Amino acid sequence: MTSYDQDYGQPAIRELGRRALSDAARTPPRLPLVGPHLESLKAYPPGRPWRELASELGIAPEDMLLLAANENVLGPSKKAIEAAGSALLEAQLYPDGGGTLLKRALSERLSVPTSHLVLGNGSNEIIELLVRSFVGPEETVVTGWPSFVVYRLATQAQGRQAVVDPLREHRYDLRQLAGLVDHRTKLVFIANPNNPTGTHVGHLEVERFLQEISDSAIVVLDEAYYEYVTAEDFPRSLELLSRFPRLVVLRTFSKAYGLAGLRIGYGIMSPELVSYIDRVRQPYNVSSVAQAAALAALSDDAHIERSRVLAQQGLLELAEGAKKLGLEFIPSQANFIVLKVPGDADALQDQLKERGLLVRSMRGYGMPEHIRVTVGTSAMNQKVLAALAEQPRGRP
Ligand SMILES: Cc1ncc(COP(=O)(O)O)c(C=O)c1O
Repeated sequence: MTSYDQDYGQPAIRELGRRALSDAARTPPRLPLVGPHLESLKAYPPGRPWRELASELGIAPEDMLLLAANENVLGPSKKAIEAAGSALLEAQLYPDGGGTLLKRALSERLSVPTSHLVLGNGSNEIIELLVRSFVGPEETVVTGWPSFVVYRLATQAQGRQAVVDPLREHRYDLRQLAGLVDHRTKLVFIANPNNPTGTHVGHLEVERFLQEISDSAIVVLDEAYYEYVTAEDFPRSLELLSRFPRLVVLRTFSKAYGLAGLRIGYGIMSPELVSYIDRVRQPYNVSSVAQAAALAALSDDAHIERSRVLAQQGLLELAEGAKKLGLEFIPSQANFIVLKVPGDADALQDQLKERGLLVRSMRGYGMPEHIRVTVGTSAMNQKVLAALAEQPRGRP
């Protein structure tokens, strides 16, 4: 059995360390602390603890509406909560670094062998691992914009270049995207449905795109909102995996499964790709509590169904409400919707925050007149619509 504290050539490393130290003593290094790629990178801003905000605003925690991060307003499955509690009793043990039980369950559910699966500390981690494992110094990443910002952050953090293609009518345009792929392109990220716009690309478009470019680049279909999708032409991505060995599909337990706080997602890809990621990832990258909760959540189909139905009804309710208010919106396949608001989205975000209603301004995505709202329960959706109804219409 391998152990984490096994001696991986320690004496040789110590010797190298001694030599490096004595060299350093002779010529003190004047190296910059970080490269220009890191100097210019902005950290993803952490949100404020929402309970602290609630107490400052004098709002009861249960009256806060957390609709800014596309989390499941129903919370996790009860089965997942119980399983997480039990797993805590053995928190002194390292987790199963192979994710055996969860991979087995996913394998059965998805009809793919366990050798095709990677677990991550959120699908975020798999995005990072893909960049770190596969994008070499002269290679690039292609993606759309506005889209999930982590594709760009992970690329820049690694000192690699991200080439971004503007969405067309709020959708990825795969023909246009294919035009940006060249001999340097190693990874292509496509969020489907896209965050923040909620739009999707269909099976035939994706298939054509893969036929055109997937001999060279690795194409990542990030399906974080997969469980919410209703579009009939949505890609049957697992079918495509068997034909395109450089295709990767990402999914997560953070959205419909309601486990965002535990950080667990998974990737489906060829065993060859898995083997490289396994070399780069931390041996215990996914906690035992997250693995246990995800395994239990996977067996609770009723909870997923409730979440799906709630999102579909909520999308209709918000869309109808927006129409009545004369607000444009982008039809969505996910558990959120983007609305065009009168005036500045940042100002509206701040104003709604004062009332305990957290939504996301799209200014940072180059959409300064749009907000993204997570779909809530009917009562929550009505509060959002009521707050929007109070906004002055038209521009001064
Ligand atoms: C498109 C997309 N991909 C991935 C993620 C990351 O999810 P996770 O919580 O699994 O890291 C998100 C989260 O917002 C997302 O919107």
